[in-house]
Amino acid sequence: MKTCIIYNSYSGVTRRIAEQIQKASDGDLVEVKSKEYSSKLTAYTIGCYRAMKGMCDRIEPETIEVSLYDRIVIGTPVWAGRVTPAINAAVEALAGCNGKKAVIYATCGGKEGETIPFLRKALEARGVTVTGEFVFDKTSAKDPERISSIIAKVKVTEST
Ligand SMILES: Cc1cc2nc3c(=O)[nH]c(=O)nc-3n(C[C@H](O)[C@H](O)[C@H](O)COP(=O)(O)O)c2cc1C
Repeated sequence: MKTCIIYNSYSGVTRRIAEQIQKASDGDLVEVKSKEYSSKLTAYTIGCYRAMKGMCDRIEPETIEVSLYDRIVIGTPVWAGRVTPAINAAVEALAGCNGKKAVIYATCGGKEGETIPFLRKALEARGVTVTGEFVFDKTSAKDPERISSIIAKVKVTEST
């Protein structure tokens, strides 16, 4: 079973969870980097505006080929109660994703807003079925039991 773990992370929380999933599933990590924000101020102002509008950032990598993977994991930080504009772009950048299954997660400071439903809908529009949804706040992001739950869900997720 091959797992592709796609994530965006501004300050490291979403990355640390992605790395733990990667170790447990022997998967491949794809870090999606935004080309838009030069400072924390621009992330909070322009970034939150773009997140609220559901906009896509210019990202690296520009294409994320997942046809050879059995399952996908997508992790996003919560920005203004929404998916980051980098992950909005990552969903658009998926290639070979039709028919795949995904586990999704969001990390936040405590107010996840509409992040998970928005990410689920965007993936469904690309032909991806979401089989698991997880939200981590500052405390649960460090809770080994919560991390084990997402890893267990990833391991039982298999695309046909
Ligand atoms: C621009 C910006 C907007 C944010 N908006 C929210 C928010 O609406 N709700 C919330 O609970 N946390 C919010 N946060 C906090 C992050 O979601 C949280 O710290 C997250 O775990 C960071 O993930 P990362 O370290 O992978 O970037 C925001 C952080 C940033 C930088």
